[in-house]
Amino acid sequence: MQLKLFESEAAIAAAVSGILIRQVQTKPASVLGFATGSSPVKTYDAMVQAYQNGLVSFRDVVTFNLDEYCGLSKTDETSYYAFMQSHLFGRADFQQKNIHFLDGNAVHAEAACAAYRCEIAAAGGIDIQLLGIGTNGHIGFNEPSDSFSDGPFQVHLAQSTKNANGKYFKDGAMPDTALTMGIGDILRARKLLLIATGESKAKAIRAMVKGEVTPLCPASVLQTHSDVTVFLDAQSASLLAEEDLWQRN
Ligand code: PGA
Repeated sequence: MQLKLFESEAAIAAAVSGILIRQVQTKPASVLGFATGSSPVKTYDAMVQAYQNGLVSFRDVVTFNLDEYCGLSKTDETSYYAFMQSHLFGRADFQQKNIHFLDGNAVHAEAACAAYRCEIAAAGGIDIQLLGIGTNGHIGFNEPSDSFSDGPFQVHLAQSTKNANGKYFKDGAMPDTALTMGIGDILRARKLLLIATGESKAKAIRAMVKGEVTPLCPASVLQTHSDVTVFLDAQSASLLAEEDLWQRN
């Protein structure tokens, strides 16, 4: 696990978008895994900027998003699909046919999850997966639990997740469940980039980096992946020792 410390969210966005853009310039039909939430927003802005400046085209990029709320259609403005449209897909030349999402509105969630797993495999697996981290150590919507999941599944959202994300919904409208890629899906991605900023992430980052590998802190499983880079600011890195940052860089 490589830990990198940055001065600002803008500097993180420049670094992460640079990696994603170089990947697409080298392999235009790359398979990219995207995340939602506040962590990747500036990275998406930087990718759009690069597209607008003619530095990169995303026409052939195949995308898979980590998760989606249950019971929301794609047209619902609080769906993660709508988030991706407004922050990234709708602002650059991504093609709808290449965009893959878990169907949070599926009547049969299990079948939707199984289909998503097949779609990832049929695309040849994910080249680079972008991740955020929850204050409880979740990645995607893999909440703390007693085991690591393998493929996509339906999850009951933890109270801390509802507290963190409730602000995006009208009172009481936040779904209780979501569909998420499993830990196995995330670990099968060939390269992982995780963004964490702000003091609220500091405990989760310390547990991810220094704690035991346990499903009680789902992100700790990233210790077992051979190509993970973590992008931190001073606040999210505040519970790590300087040597942690140096040793892993
Ligand atoms: P955030 O969420 O980027 O909005 O902080 C991250 C997450 O919950 O995974």
